[in-house]
Amino acid sequence: MLQRTFSIIKPDAVNRNLEGEILARIQKAGLRVVAMKKIHMTREQAEGFYHVHKERPFFGSLTEFMCSGPVVCSVLEGDDAIARYRELMGATNPANAAEGTLRKDFALNLEANSVHGSDAPETAAFEISYFFNALEITG
Ligand code: PPS
Repeated sequence: MLQRTFSIIKPDAVNRNLEGEILARIQKAGLRVVAMKKIHMTREQAEGFYHVHKERPFFGSLTEFMCSGPVVCSVLEGDDAIARYRELMGATNPANAAEGTLRKDFALNLEANSVHGSDAPETAAFEISYFFNALEITG
């Protein structure tokens, strides 16, 4: 099933100049980049993006981190893209991430964990539309 998911290469990875390496791994995994932009989020934009986590204890720290520097947002397309990208990313906490995953290889800790990917079709739809309009997404 052809599906789209939303990805962020987080500030810790962009700060270490890793976006090219991470995008190459995404493409080698068979996912197609159908939209992409580098942005530096405001605190309000980060809070809006992560609104589902607003009651969680790490909300303040997470949103501060996500606007601490530029990020690379992209829309990825492929068969079963949501699950396949989650698998490529690895566990949220890099200490638990499997060998060969992006977080195992690049993440610094639970917060600075290098990449974000949508966790479900409804989340992907919200996240894609939060950062991209229809004209910015290629077929
Ligand atoms: S997930 O991937 O949604 O199932 O993971 P979850 O544990 O629910 O975490 C949601 C996002 O919050 C980040 N996170 C944290 N940030 C800072 N400090 C702590 N302690 C922490 N715990 C979780 C986690 O990286 C997820 O970010 P995204 O951008 O969604 O990957």
